[in-house]
Amino acid sequence: MNIKSLLALSSFLLPTLAVPQYASPSYPTISNDSNTTNPQTPNFSSQRLWNLTNRFLQNHMYPLNIAQSLSINSSLLSEDILGRVDATRDYAGRELNTEYLFGLFANIALNPDAFTLLGYPINYTFTRFLGQGNVVSFAAVVEYKLPVTGTTIPQELDFWVTYNDKGEISQYDGCVLIPFLHYFLFPLPPSLLLSFPTLVPTTNRKESNFRYLQWQLNSTIATIAKLQNLSTTTDLTPLLHAKLATSICETATTFCNGTNLQYESQATCEDYLGKQTRFGEGWEWGMDTVACRMIHQNMVPLRPDVHCEHIGPSGGGMCVDDRTYVGNLEEDYFVNTPFLAPGLEGGVM
Ligand SMILES: *[C@@H]1O[C@H](CO)[C@@H](O)[C@H](O)[C@H]1NC(C)=O
Ligand SMILES: *[C@@H]1O[C@H](CO)[C@@H](O)[C@H](O)[C@H]1NC(C)=O
Ligand SMILES: *[C@@H]1O[C@H](CO)[C@@H](O)[C@H](O)[C@H]1NC(C)=O
Ligand SMILES: *[C@@H]1O[C@H](CO)[C@@H](O)[C@H](O)[C@H]1NC(C)=O
Ligand SMILES: *[C@@H]1O[C@H](CO)[C@@H](O)[C@H](O)[C@H]1NC(C)=O
Ligand SMILES: *[C@@H]1O[C@H](CO)[C@@H](O)[C@H](O)[C@H]1NC(C)=O
Ligand SMILES: *[C@@H]1O[C@H](CO)[C@@H](O)[C@H](O)[C@H]1NC(C)=O
Ligand SMILES: *[C@@H]1O[C@H](CO)[C@@H](O)[C@H](O)[C@H]1NC(C)=O
Ligand SMILES: *[C@@H]1O[C@H](CO)[C@@H](O)[C@H](O)[C@H]1NC(C)=O
Repeated sequence: MNIKSLLALSSFLLPTLAVPQYASPSYPTISNDSNTTNPQTPNFSSQRLWNLTNRFLQNHMYPLNIAQSLSINSSLLSEDILGRVDATRDYAGRELNTEYLFGLFANIALNPDAFTLLGYPINYTFTRFLGQGNVVSFAAVVEYKLPVTGTTIPQELDFWVTYNDKGEISQYDGCVLIPFLHYFLFPLPPSLLLSFPTLVPTTNRKESNFRYLQWQLNSTIATIAKLQNLSTTTDLTPLLHAKLATSICETATTFCNGTNLQYESQATCEDYLGKQTRFGEGWEWGMDTVACRMIHQNMVPLRPDVHCEHIGPSGGGMCVDDRTYVGNLEEDYFVNTPFLAPGLEGGVM
């Protein structure tokens, strides 16, 4: 058994680390300098928006993300928060987003033996920032520690964020910045292009939000190959696929029993995920793939009732092939406030 419950670990961590902030994070009060009456659209100064965003990133880093995770409902997030990371999918509500933005990564750090290609964030540098009213657009290069290799790798996060008048994040989303770069850097064999006529637009999506996600994955896999002394031409995907299936199934076997049962046995699970489920491309982390379940395995210990079915055969509405490129772009999801600076709300033709 590799994955341990963060909640179970907390009782072990609290006495040893004895850091009060782990139990209840507290922050300087954000004074209300808004003069608008709509709580969803405060008119904050750029400096305040910068401070709020910086505070979020600080708490996203390990080990501060443990405290956020233990709080269950992070006070950095609004109760009606609407989140989307387009490599994965939509996440609505404070508790789910606390697990997704903080708990998932804290669990990776706390369970270094669980097999995953994900890392946990340890530091960051803002590379772009603009804030007006209640809206921020930023990019940050975040350094991730990868337990699988013991090395770190940077990755760029591109986020649009809105804040409510309490200074809580009310929405976050990504944007497509360099549409065709991936396609030019990694031209695919014509045989693949022929079998996937829509490959060009979907390939572009790899560059959205988690920019260079596929490229980062490629680099991570290359590092694993190097550590294993394998030739660079060896295709590691089958090996990684099998190791991930085993790890996800161990999580299911440990945490998903009784009414949360997903698979008859470890063997049934490994057969299903190892042989009948595709590994998944970099933009399919919210689809019926092993890569999607790799993300959700880290949230299962937090709330088995909610997350078990996400790693199960049904995917529980999280790892399901129900999303399309156009549907994703056109969905009417962000209803709390527009991602337009105040005063520009009429920007619809
Ligand atoms: C308050 O909002 C109005 C527009 O509604 C604007 O003209 C004014 O400058 C704002 N004042 C402050 C202090 O933000
Ligand atoms: C902030 O101030 C505005 C305008 O005075 C008010 O309508 C709003 O309720 C205040 N928000 C909070 C969280 O105090
Ligand atoms: C932003 O944070 C800095 C450093 O903590 C502080 O000095 C400044 O007053 C803050 N500004 C606002 C507008 O919150
Ligand atoms: C978190 O918030 C939800 C409602 O948004 C509530 O049902 C739940 O009890 C809260 N959990 C804690 C530990 O505060
Ligand atoms: C972030 O961590 C990496 C790896 O430890 C280090 O090389 C880099 O200098 C750090 N960056 C910042 C901004 O602290
Ligand atoms: C990374 O991408 C390059 C270019 O497509 C490819 O040749 C290489 O095999 C990939 N490496 C891994 C480890 O996937
Ligand atoms: C890879 O090669 C190095 C140096 O020859 C050796 O120390 C290491 O144990 C090898 N690793 C594996 C996984 O075989
Ligand atoms: C059932 O799962 C829970 C966590 O969801 C775990 O605490 C418990 O030990 C499991 N029971 C058995 C018999 O495996
Ligand atoms: C927001 O505040 C700034 C300065 O504090 C002001 O210039 C601007 O008009 C305000 N915008 C709105 C929509 O209230």
